[in-house]
Amino acid sequence: MKIVGGSASVPLARGIAHELSVPLVDVAFEKHPGGFPDGERYVRLLGPVPGEHVVVVQTTHPDPMLVELFLLADAIKDAGVTHLTAVVPYFGYGRQDKRFLDGEPISAKTIAKHLAVDCNELLTMAIHNPRMLRTFPLPARDVSGMPAIGRYLKSAKVDMLLAPDGNAIRLAKEVSAIAGIPFDSLEKKRIDSYTVKIAPKALAVRGKSVAIVDDVISTGGTIAMAAKALRAQGARRVIAACVHGLFVGPAEANLKACDDVIATDTIQSHYTKVSVAQEFAAAIRALG
Ligand code: R5P
Repeated sequence: MKIVGGSASVPLARGIAHELSVPLVDVAFEKHPGGFPDGERYVRLLGPVPGEHVVVVQTTHPDPMLVELFLLADAIKDAGVTHLTAVVPYFGYGRQDKRFLDGEPISAKTIAKHLAVDCNELLTMAIHNPRMLRTFPLPARDVSGMPAIGRYLKSAKVDMLLAPDGNAIRLAKEVSAIAGIPFDSLEKKRIDSYTVKIAPKALAVRGKSVAIVDDVISTGGTIAMAAKALRAQGARRVIAACVHGLFVGPAEANLKACDDVIATDTIQSHYTKVSVAQEFAAAIRALG
């Protein structure tokens, strides 16, 4: 087996290779220093892969990384591998999991269809709707990133976990079981892409250190509202923990409401403090 990392996921690919004790294949991402002037992506495998089971690791944010993933998968397949597994740590377009309006594509399925051209299977993490993986044209599995967050929070002196909405309850439950920290939850109503409202609820957080646990931080609106509710009720310390840190738009300003922010390496950022390499390595081992 060999691991190939796309430019958005080199540290995670290296971590997975280390966990599995298999080689990481070097890749060139620029034909000329500075890359193509029009921003088009370029990839070239710098090591041999024929006859191997190859695992390509590439997150799909921002969008050009998706093109890079398709280029890598094509180059790997053309090189004559026996099996190609795609590890897509953050599966972009996952939120368009149905046709909300006539004339729309089911974008998540569109991406999966293109992956299925070259890849034998897909492993992803905290996809918006794991049930939709069953509709993909290649075998696909959602791997949990919560053990990684649980490991971190266990040693971060946290008294309580908070799920900011109904969707995050199962995540908080999983972290709670791993870290041995109790959890509570809030009810959120999304007004638009940038605005959320949180229903008032009494929380037993006075003087406590609380970690808000979510799958994604995008604009940070959800976290800001939850942090405000915690502060108003006397929380001493507020941490935001997520699997996928997109941190777009007003995220930096919104996250000022927190004492600390942690994200995993599904999307590399300055908030990446936790690696999910162990989780993906275990899922790859389980492929047999
Ligand atoms: C929504 O259901 C998700 O779990 C996240 O809460 C949401 O995507 C976060 O978005 P934002 O950071 O923009 O509030």
